[in-house]
Amino acid sequence: MNVLEVTALNKVYPGKVNTQALTDIHLSIEQGEFVGIMGPSGSGKTTLLNMVSTIDQPSSGVVNIGGSNPYLMNKKELALFRRRQLGFVFQDFNLLETLTVAENIVLPLTLDNRKLAEMDALLQKVADRLNIKDILNKRTYEISGGQRQRTAIARAIITSPAIILADEPTGALDSNSSRIVMESLEDINRKEGTTLMLVTHDPLAASYCNRIVFIKDGKLAAEIHRGDNRQAFFQKIIDTLSFWGGNTHELSSIRV
Ligand SMILES: Nc1ncnc2c1ncn2[C@@H]1O[C@H](COP(=O)(O)OP(=O)(O)O)[C@@H](O)[C@H]1O
Ligand SMILES: [Mg+2]
Repeated sequence: MNVLEVTALNKVYPGKVNTQALTDIHLSIEQGEFVGIMGPSGSGKTTLLNMVSTIDQPSSGVVNIGGSNPYLMNKKELALFRRRQLGFVFQDFNLLETLTVAENIVLPLTLDNRKLAEMDALLQKVADRLNIKDILNKRTYEISGGQRQRTAIARAIITSPAIILADEPTGALDSNSSRIVMESLEDINRKEGTTLMLVTHDPLAASYCNRIVFIKDGKLAAEIHRGDNRQAFFQKIIDTLSFWGGNTHELSSIRV
């Protein structure tokens, strides 16, 4: 079953000069896949993610998530759909500083008026999965960047959404925290079968995906698959990026 089906998607940002950010994008993501989106800066990665996450409207084309088209929903239906079917992870974590780690994680359930005992059981489960059980009572300014991102991931998965959408989730992290965050996402994908779509320009982060789709100038340019070996996949990602003329300076901080 396809969790995500993007068909003939176009996005034009109007202005004095129109920007054609995406051109005729076709992309399907199956249940349980972990898909990376890569490409040079300005190639349209965030625009694509915003179309899928219903943050912004496509100019034409269809987006289908879990069998429904969010762009045909009214405001109320859309708010509910986003809360239940989509999980968001951002580069800058988007946590609320006045809340504890635990309160941040259960926030989407609070909004849905779920029972306390049910919320606590789910909290323990996701905290265990992300190895953050010992920091649940801390405030977000008392924990490290990697712990903040794992908190954000816990919040994203607690509703068991159809798909997790992540834009540069390791962009603000050092290499060690990046690795731990990517291992967490890989673990969630493998053990819970969660479907993930991740935008990144970091080849190391991308090497944790099962499949990478490359975008250039708003068009799909290439697609590669991981096999068993992550190291070999990492090299394949580097080769594909340099072939497609990505910003090679973005590769200057390579760490395997
Ligand atoms: N809100 C916007 N208004 C106008 N142009 C935009 C907007 N967002 C992005 N763009 C343009 O669309 C293109 C793709 O941008 P983006 O999706 O942010 O690329 P990426 O995430 O790959 O760096 C770029 O040319 C960018 O300048
Ligand atoms: Mg971007």
